Amino acid sequence: MPDDAADGGITAALSAGAALLGALALGAAIWPFSALAAVLVVLALLPNLMVFAWSAGVQDARFTESASHSGRFRYLLDQLIDARTGTELSTLGTGVKVAGAASEAYGRFTRINDRLYALLLRGDLLGGLVTAVLLGGALVAVLRAGAGAAGLGAGVLGVIAGLQATRGAGYALGDVITVAPLVRRFRELEALAGAVPGQDVVHDVAELRTTGITVQYPGASRPALSSADLHVRRGEMVALVGVNGAGKTSLVGALLGIVPVTAGTVEIDGVDAAGLSPQERLARFGLVTQEFGRYEMTVRAALALGTPEEEIPEEAFWRALAAARADGMVRSLPQGLDTMLGTRFGGVGLSGGQWQRIALARIHLRGAGIRVLDEPTSAIDAEAEQEVFVQLRETAAEHLTIVVSHRAWTLRGMDRIHVLEGGWIVESGTFDELLSSGSRFAEIFAEQL
Ligand SMILES: Nc1ncnc2c1ncn2[C@@H]1O[C@H](COP(=O)(O)OP(=O)(O)OP(=O)(O)O)[C@@H](O)[C@H]1O
Ligand SMILES: [Mg+2]
Repeated sequence: MPDDAADGGITAALSAGAALLGALALGAAIWPFSALAAVLVVLALLPNLMVFAWSAGVQDARFTESASHSGRFRYLLDQLIDARTGTELSTLGTGVKVAGAASEAYGRFTRINDRLYALLLRGDLLGGLVTAVLLGGALVAVLRAGAGAAGLGAGVLGVIAGLQATRGAGYALGDVITVAPLVRRFRELEALAGAVPGQDVVHDVAELRTTGITVQYPGASRPALSSADLHVRRGEMVALVGVNGAGKTSLVGALLGIVPVTAGTVEIDGVDAAGLSPQERLARFGLVTQEFGRYEMTVRAALALGTPEEEIPEEAFWRALAAARADGMVRSLPQGLDTMLGTRFGGVGLSGGQWQRIALARIHLRGAGIRVLDEPTSAIDAEAEQEVFVQLRETAAEHLTIVVSHRAWTLRGMDRIHVLEGGWIVESGTFDELLSSGSRFAEIFAEQL
């Protein structure tokens, strides 16, 4: 848009300069025959210049508002398209909510622009009309003065100058044409928001079992995950540990079905998850991804992304925030739950750990049967991390909780720890069981212990 505006500015200045030179030359040529006609010809320049100046002012005044809506639209669309945030949003079943917000922003943007274009078109038409009248008057004055050849010349040049006046209208039409593809995309988004049903979160899950699941990414020489068996019951907290690249996130992705498995099965409450639609399957999970999104929305909207209900009680937001140790921070924000997060749209800036607490609170609010937390406290300070894990334990009874963690102390309270190495689960047991000398677990955590 700024480039278009700059190009438009240069074109406008050039055509104004050309019109000025043309009118002055014409005025000088006509002067000997009719002073009145010469003055009218030069005056005919004014309506166009005034319309140029006026339309620049009008566009400038509306630019900030219109750009903020189109910026918001593009931002939200980017969240849906980006592989990282798009995956997270789809696991939350919330693409529709985001598409709805995007469509609203786009609606505001187009409404402002529609009004603007209508106004500019009218201005251009009026300018053209006044120019034509003045030139017509000049023509009459020249003919009355009895100037044959010069009058003819003035007539021809007058028509050319008149054409200049209508070019402004041409630019405005050109802008309308460039905007047409965006309007189409907006309509598609609107249709999408209407067509996809909201996802219902399943709160009650009793058991998750994987048998021999294997993940091999396209083009990879060996599997990222080999024949993994996992069994988690409601009330249990299970940890996945291992060095970078061991296969933890691949296992998490395979559970949710967002990473395709090449072998093995995932069963939820005795049902093969492969037989569920992606929506039915994801409804059972609440995932905090390792690379959680930083959604620049109000706290309320950012938390509600994982919860399909339209009406969420105030209390529920605060409970979720407290569980993620983010309640104190949100309470201190200028508009509490209605504070805009992130600086892109004039909201408050958050630290990495604060963003992570929001992501965690979102999953607490969602309350899905299976909670999967891929390094949920990687950016959170030690003190808050401890409280976050205490909260996870306190709310563990109604859930199955699977946590990826690199911090030894967080593993003490786990019912079971699986150690991954090169895609294989090489050890399983409780913290104390795994601490025997010579274990891979003791090796990995030697420094921290
Ligand atoms: N989308 C992908 N495409 C191809 N290979 C991948 C992809 N994601 C992961 N891998 C590979 O799979 C292996 C396991 O990666 P994974 O992300 O599961 O490890 P991780 O245990 O979660 O590591 P970290 O502790 O760094 O998060 C790695 O060798 C990685 O390079
Ligand atoms: Mg990982």
